[in-house]
Amino acid sequence: MSWQDKLRKVEPYVAGEQPKIKNLIKLNTNENPYSPGIKVEEAIQHFQSSKLSLYPNPDADDLKHAIASYHHLKDNQVFIGNGSDEVLALTFLTCFNGQEPILFPDITYSFYPVYCDLFGISFQSQPLDEDFCIVKEDYYKPNSGIIFPNPNAPTGCLVSLEFIEDILKHNPESVVVIDEAYIDFGGQSAVSLLKDYPQLLIIQTFSKFRSLAGIRLGVALGNEELISKLYDVKNSFNSYPIDSLAQVIGKASMDDSDYIKENAQKIIKTREWVKRELKALDFEMPDSYANFVFAKHPRYDGEKLFQELRNRGVLVRHFDKPRISQYLRITIGTQSQMEKLIEEIKLILKGS
Ligand SMILES: Cc1ncc(COP(=O)(O)O)c(C=O)c1O
Repeated sequence: MSWQDKLRKVEPYVAGEQPKIKNLIKLNTNENPYSPGIKVEEAIQHFQSSKLSLYPNPDADDLKHAIASYHHLKDNQVFIGNGSDEVLALTFLTCFNGQEPILFPDITYSFYPVYCDLFGISFQSQPLDEDFCIVKEDYYKPNSGIIFPNPNAPTGCLVSLEFIEDILKHNPESVVVIDEAYIDFGGQSAVSLLKDYPQLLIIQTFSKFRSLAGIRLGVALGNEELISKLYDVKNSFNSYPIDSLAQVIGKASMDDSDYIKENAQKIIKTREWVKRELKALDFEMPDSYANFVFAKHPRYDGEKLFQELRNRGVLVRHFDKPRISQYLRITIGTQSQMEKLIEEIKLILKGS
């Protein structure tokens, strides 16, 4: 066997482009258009580089305490990782070890099947209905775990806490993971269910609501036993996933939550405006509760519209996948960025 034959072959997740095009309106990776805030700015300015000669606190204890207080949880109910993608990877490794397949929607965050492939976890995807809603009864069957985002990505559809509770009640022997990457743009977090459901794990990120995609901070919230198992797996892989500067920045962001909530309100207002404008142009879309909309035009090809917009300096996301190839996922930027988007779409539809 050659050395090449001994290499691991996987099909990786493909992240949205980060092109270096001047004056581009970048609406393709659900980043937050607003600044992370003055407290983060000050934390960076006051950070002493001499601290970098030492390893960071392995479990980011100060940041962990701030996150626990924010959610009214105990410190040992909080796990922090290097972006929620890493938290998700460690979750798959820690929680999904049964004989049955794990379950997630057919249209969802496309990293989930990649982790399954990487870790040899079998899965069964459950089709969303024709309105892109999750059918909860599909999750009432034997499984080794359940995961879905709420709101779902890339559709933006939200489910209620009662809906999540029904799934938890039918699955007392499986870890049920709710990926709340976009929950702060109009949804209600399932944190309040943690006290009654020890098998619930909630994953959040600093990348969207907190405008900190660049420092990589993700969080898992859950029962102490579950969280301690996540730390065991993390400590079998990387003792120091959160660097010292990221720990200080994360803490400053937690201390500036009121400012951050104001930004989320601005994004929600702009999102509702974008929905109205797109509907007036005949676009069809599920009702998004995230910082993006997922829209298709009945008479204009999705990929062609993506290309036309790109040529005009507006980058959105197109997925060449069954059921959704006609849709564009459009991140909500500032109001003026979105006005430019609508203007360009109107010109494209007019053929000019
Ligand atoms: C549903 C969902 N979960 C998790 C993530 C990962 O976020 P991050 O790794 O930046 O924390 C994303 C990123 O777009 C996402 O859409």
